[in-house]
Amino acid sequence: MRANVHSLIAIAGLSLMAACGGGGTSEPAVKTCAEDPTQSKCVVVVPADSTLRLSAAKTSRYFGAAQDQMFFNQNAAYNALLAKEFNMLTPGNVLKWDTVHPQRGTYSFTKGDALLAFAQANGMKMRGHTLVWLNTQMPSWLLNGGFSADTLTQILKDHIATVVGHYQGQVYAWDVVNEAFAGDGSIQVPASGNIWFSTLGKSYIETAFRAARTADPAALLFYNDYSLEFPGAKQDAAVALITDFKARQVPIDGIGFQAHFQINPDGTGVPSKASLTATFQRFAALGVKIHLTELDIRVRTPGATQAELSAQAQGYSDVVGACLAVAQCEAIVVWGITDAESWIPSAFPGWGQALLFDASLGKKATYTAAKGAM
Ligand code: G3I
Repeated sequence: MRANVHSLIAIAGLSLMAACGGGGTSEPAVKTCAEDPTQSKCVVVVPADSTLRLSAAKTSRYFGAAQDQMFFNQNAAYNALLAKEFNMLTPGNVLKWDTVHPQRGTYSFTKGDALLAFAQANGMKMRGHTLVWLNTQMPSWLLNGGFSADTLTQILKDHIATVVGHYQGQVYAWDVVNEAFAGDGSIQVPASGNIWFSTLGKSYIETAFRAARTADPAALLFYNDYSLEFPGAKQDAAVALITDFKARQVPIDGIGFQAHFQINPDGTGVPSKASLTATFQRFAALGVKIHLTELDIRVRTPGATQAELSAQAQGYSDVVGACLAVAQCEAIVVWGITDAESWIPSAFPGWGQALLFDASLGKKATYTAAKGAM
């Protein structure tokens, strides 16, 4: 894995030498760049695509980031970096039920609106996240309401009509349903519960997609989940869902691969570029767009070895490269900008450093690898 990154650097080094006449020649009139750096062939042109968003745009892709509290801290340097490097924005938490619909029939769009205004002012597309999840970040009125199936269905439809309707024409894509499947392909009911499935059965998924299409016919509608990147029962279940929806004209436009990866001590953890490409092609063949919606690659902290960090950089290169290899893969979104804001250390103690920038907003090797793959 490391060898590939190193060869790229070596190839880039060779090209630079050649461009500067450093490759050696028998022509005595030719000067090297060291001898005469003013020669036109030696001028170093800083490419215009020296940000993630410009590199992505060059291939008609989006490179995005999820945002949470860091954005609202109004740290000027942080928000400038967000606007400079990214052309897609996902609210990490503030469009979830507990924030946007804290009391029955009472909605709060203040934070979502602030993120949308920032996105629009900076030429970024907004991804809406998320309309239906599990019993996570749900208000107590909903979890403890003891609603009948009919009432819960109406609550779900009203919520989607109101939230998607509020952003009609302004949100590029919605994660309509998030993390419905367990590893074995069945509908997931974690320890904390899944009131949607427990009360409504599997039909809650279809209900949500139909309501979202009605509320904003222009928004792209995505099913979003983790571990779909690995072949197996869960990936098969997502394929079956899309196949069924397409056959019955239930609206669905895209599949969101969360892409939360971990580098194991032996360097494994991220599927190979070939495997990822095959997976993306499998979904593209179903007629849906592909977004990588929550990308991060964690390593052990403290104490990740250089080999593990190299595997992490190679992982970023492979994920981005696989997306670019499939025309229908149009967006790569990282789940936060800096390691300081990542959800990983609290969810996975002993793991972290999963993102592209360090806590001081410095670019990491992961940034170089991701950008280098575009
Ligand atoms: O809002 C409260 C705040 O009032 C309180 O003071 C504070 C104290 O801990 O907690 C705040 O809530 C936290 C919330 O994020 C907002 O910051 C929760 O404790 C915390 O558990 C919650 O974590 C979020 C997590 O989803 C919940 O499962 C992460 O920030 C968010 O990044 C993460 O995002 C999910 C995606 O939506 C779906 N895919 C997985 C991904 C990572 O878990």
